Amino acid sequence: MAGDYDLVVVANRLPVDRVTEADGTTAWRRSPGGLVTALEPVMQREDGAWVGWAGSPGDPPEPFDAEGVRCVPIGLSETEVEEYYEGFSNGTLWPLYHDVIVAPDYHRRWWESYVRVNRRFAERAAEQAAERATVWVQDYQLQLVPQMLRELRPDLHIGFFNHIPFPPFEIFAQLPWRAAIIDGLLGADLVGFQRAADAANFTRACRRAKGLPARSGRIRLDAEGGREVRAASFPISIDFRALSDLAQTEGVKARAAEIRRDLGDPQFVLLGIDRLDYTKGIPHRLKAFEELLADEKVQASEAALVQVATPSRERVEQYVQLRQDVEVIVGRINGTHSTIAHRAVHYLHHSYDKEEMAALFLAADVMLVTALRDGMNLVAKEYVAARHDERGVLVLSEFTGAADEFGQALLVNPHDIDGLKETVVRALRMSPREAGRRMRALRRRVQEHDVQRWATTFLQALEEHAGTRGIESVDRAEDPA
Ligand code: G6P
Repeated sequence: MAGDYDLVVVANRLPVDRVTEADGTTAWRRSPGGLVTALEPVMQREDGAWVGWAGSPGDPPEPFDAEGVRCVPIGLSETEVEEYYEGFSNGTLWPLYHDVIVAPDYHRRWWESYVRVNRRFAERAAEQAAERATVWVQDYQLQLVPQMLRELRPDLHIGFFNHIPFPPFEIFAQLPWRAAIIDGLLGADLVGFQRAADAANFTRACRRAKGLPARSGRIRLDAEGGREVRAASFPISIDFRALSDLAQTEGVKARAAEIRRDLGDPQFVLLGIDRLDYTKGIPHRLKAFEELLADEKVQASEAALVQVATPSRERVEQYVQLRQDVEVIVGRINGTHSTIAHRAVHYLHHSYDKEEMAALFLAADVMLVTALRDGMNLVAKEYVAARHDERGVLVLSEFTGAADEFGQALLVNPHDIDGLKETVVRALRMSPREAGRRMRALRRRVQEHDVQRWATTFLQALEEHAGTRGIESVDRAEDPA
């Protein structure tokens, strides 16, 4: 049975968080993520609904309206949180899709839970969507939803966007359920990725795992009368205007100055802001900073590194281990290089609101983004958007999606500690003129390619493709040896 909504977004998390007000009552408030901002105008215009998990185990609340969006909560039991979310999503797929930085765990029970929960999301989405509505499924937690939805509702236009990398086939091939994942994604009309390389990896996986004729981002399904699926890149972005404006408010500017004062007015402030995740290369950047202090390339008294590490997935074993590792390194650096008057590393295991983040960005001379693998890395784009003063230098890992767009950042291989150290020194000593020229180019890029443009471009491409569902001839491409 068809529902009322012309646009349905399906994501692991709802776009709102439950908050407790001063008077003790609870309410829903929009979460800080960019996806919500990107989709809010379209959701309001198109009569949108959002299907997602409310973030804690147990029975789901009834559907409700929040900030103009219909929210349809999905319930997950304690066991499903362990097996579908912490297990298969974040203990199997997350490390597998991020270059096996840590070893993925393969458990059949986790997989069964993933299938069961994906079916629940698909069923709820099918109930909400109007006749021939557009359904946009988000991210690796829900890769089976497109196919399940198509079986339930062949009339729908289905898009999928993968926010994280899609790995090369040689790595993806480890997954015991690789063919089922490909089948799941191919339920969509359009499968979107961050980088062209991710789309190419996916197309190749369709050939290698399923023997499908696929080339130039078009995969033909002969079993479905030649239905064609399109795979392409749509690099995600941020709400440039909102952050740039926020960073220009007097409150944020004053707070940035206060942060520098509280740090003891060092000559250089370096900054890292990440979820505490092993993909982010936090130990690598700490090691580089530690060696720079030890070699006296940077004087401990002249520099402070602020590392914000937002708590994340805290019950997953590899995250527990990472936290211990990071805290040992921070303790060692501070034990060796801090004085009563000056601390070398300010490590903050908290999350902050957007005003405080904007102030931190403004206070930082050098932003360190040293991810070992990252689908995009929106922090890099946020730093640039906040720097309306056209100051500050971005040091950016080559292994982020953002590196494809940010030729004017100082690109680094975070595994190359000597190279990273040299780049940090270069960033610290860069002339204001050169830094300004680079920052202007980076800002222009994000301003012209903001998250609103990302959402519109994806939805237009989906409508063009699904609207016609054209069957073009596709060669059966031979995979090069
Ligand atoms: C990445 C993923 C998102 C996820 C976010 C936070 O950005 O692509 O799907 O929501 O991390 O992780 P969490 O596990 O807390 O939802």
